[in-house]
Amino acid sequence: MRLDRFLAECGLGTRNEVKKIIRSGAVTLNGQVTKSADAAVVPTTDSVAVLGREMIYREFIYLMLNKPGGYISATRDGKTPTVLDLLPDEYRHFEPFPVGRLDIDTEGLLILTNDGDLAHRLLSPKKHVPKTYIAQIEKPVKTEDVDAFSRGVVLDDGYKTLPAKLASLSDTEPYFAEVVISEGKFHQVKRMFEAAGNKVLYLKRTKMNYLALDEKLELGHIRELTDAELELLQKTN
Ligand code: URA
Repeated sequence: MRLDRFLAECGLGTRNEVKKIIRSGAVTLNGQVTKSADAAVVPTTDSVAVLGREMIYREFIYLMLNKPGGYISATRDGKTPTVLDLLPDEYRHFEPFPVGRLDIDTEGLLILTNDGDLAHRLLSPKKHVPKTYIAQIEKPVKTEDVDAFSRGVVLDDGYKTLPAKLASLSDTEPYFAEVVISEGKFHQVKRMFEAAGNKVLYLKRTKMNYLALDEKLELGHIRELTDAELELLQKTN
């Protein structure tokens, strides 16, 4: 890989900014000052430093967003703000994208990454990755709803969902329930409650696979996953 690309991908700046820094003589490659932007770098073995500070190359980034309402889970949209509008500049060069979709009014855990393989594994319909939601609902959960969810619910388009876990979190107003689904059909949780004659008033995702939303992460804020969190996200049974 070229030195200028390596440094740009380390987040040092744009390709043009990086070229200027290299020309200024601030960059060493394996201890030797180099002024050639096209010097060859092997990221895994070469050591590159800028003004003596070692640059750490990473190909992938894994971010946790506590998604607020009002943002869509897309990378680009004409007018509506997207979750990428919440991305701090320091992560932009990684070009992360949201793993799956939350509705515009749904809050909570959304993973952003540029690791296409991981995203694919988490979203593949064959993998049945569990996703946990807290829903505020119009009416209390009935025992028959818990049974119906556990068998799978027939949605408005005739599709029968996979078995889901439903538990009431509060039987007095405001009514809250926890739902765990292992697929990701359009508006799935809302439509499952509709099929049970109920209505979702507010929805928040609290878990994806074994990774829980950090409740200390403020709405609209993004931070990198720790190594332990990444393991929980990737864990398979
Ligand atoms: N189910 C929904 O209905 N909406 C979401 O955003 C996620 C799951």
